[in-house]
Amino acid sequence: MKKTLAVSLLIAGTLGTSASVYATDTRARFMAANCAYCHGPDGKSRGAIPSLAGLEVGYFVEQMKAFKDGSRPGTVMQKHALGYTDAEFLAMAKYFAAIK
Ligand code: HEC
Repeated sequence: MKKTLAVSLLIAGTLGTSASVYATDTRARFMAANCAYCHGPDGKSRGAIPSLAGLEVGYFVEQMKAFKDGSRPGTVMQKHALGYTDAEFLAMAKYFAAIK
């Protein structure tokens, strides 16, 4: 009985891990969709607004933190940055950095 429980917990744990990896990716994509209106689909801007696709992860996160704490002035980005946590900045940074 005890062994069965342990095995099912192990399976649940494994499934839980892969499910959360998937959820992170989906969530990053979902968050990134909020940026597409200005930064272009897939972060490739066609106008004056800078592209996000291919930006270096560290740079991206630093810019978002700077917008959030006000140390980098911006027109609209401060408002956008306020809605996200550092972990979410990182998830979005990785998502955009992976786009070629
Ligand atoms: C309403 C339009 C708009 C939306 C939506 C928007 N941005 Fe921006 N973004 C800008 C503008 C304009 C700038 C240039 C700085 C400024 O004026 O605020 C910018 C600059 C940036 C920069 C700095 C780029 C660089 O090369 O230094 C990053 C990073 C960024 N945005 C990320 C995001 C992310 C992530 C989202 C979605 C959560 C987002 N933006 C949503 C308009 C927008």
